[in-house]
Amino acid sequence: MTGSISRNACHALLALALFVSCTWARAAEVDRIAEALELRPGAVVADVGAGDGEWSEALAERIGASGHLFATEVDSDLMDRIHTRLEAAGLINFTVVEGDQERTGLPEGCCDAALLRMVYHHFERPAPMRADLWRALKPDGLLAIVDIVPQKGWRELDKVPDRGGHGIPIDALVLEMGGSGFELVARHTDWSADEDRYCLVFRKVPDPPAPEPEPSLEAGEKG
Ligand SMILES: C[S@@+](CC[C@H](N)C(=O)[O-])C[C@H]1O[C@@H](n2cnc3c(N)ncnc32)[C@H](O)[C@@H]1O
Repeated sequence: MTGSISRNACHALLALALFVSCTWARAAEVDRIAEALELRPGAVVADVGAGDGEWSEALAERIGASGHLFATEVDSDLMDRIHTRLEAAGLINFTVVEGDQERTGLPEGCCDAALLRMVYHHFERPAPMRADLWRALKPDGLLAIVDIVPQKGWRELDKVPDRGGHGIPIDALVLEMGGSGFELVARHTDWSADEDRYCLVFRKVPDPPAPEPEPSLEAGEKG
């Protein structure tokens, strides 16, 4: 009996420690994203491929009532979840946008900044997505891409370019973005406790991106 009470107490303490450490890590990442994207109250920001809206909620809170958050998704169930989540958090400064594999769905020149967290390597047609991101950003707009070097043990993604695993190498991402009208302004390789994760920050440059994909990187598409 005493043994099981102390075992239960131990499990509860471990669960609490895990919760505290995840909450702390998430808050620290939100701060780093906000700093990378130079987010201020009143900013207009997109969370592209927003998933369940966890990061959209944090960004919408950060930019305040005078700002606006666009959360984009290709999955309609997730779009509903984002809407429900942000409304439940009392937020009204947001729009949930439906995208596809060639378009973000964002209005032209709408955003000061955009976040792509663990999304870029899911793009089935990265070249048109890059062109559309360029179109959606204001002049000098910032783009933070949080991603991961290719993971061989993770599930294979259908229809995405073959990059040697689930993820994308840093140099390949820099090359692809550079060919589409984005200059690298910061490279964070210490992004999280997972040393394979990184964050690259790009700035939109004035020249319009070339319409064609880079054949050396994108010829190897699967599916
Ligand atoms: C690994 S999840 C990341 C979710 C969230 N950004 C996060 O960090 O928790 C990738 C998400 O990207 C979405 N996605 C994939 N391709 C997309 C596209 N072309 N446009 C918008 N979202 C896309 C998927 O539906 C999925 O919810």
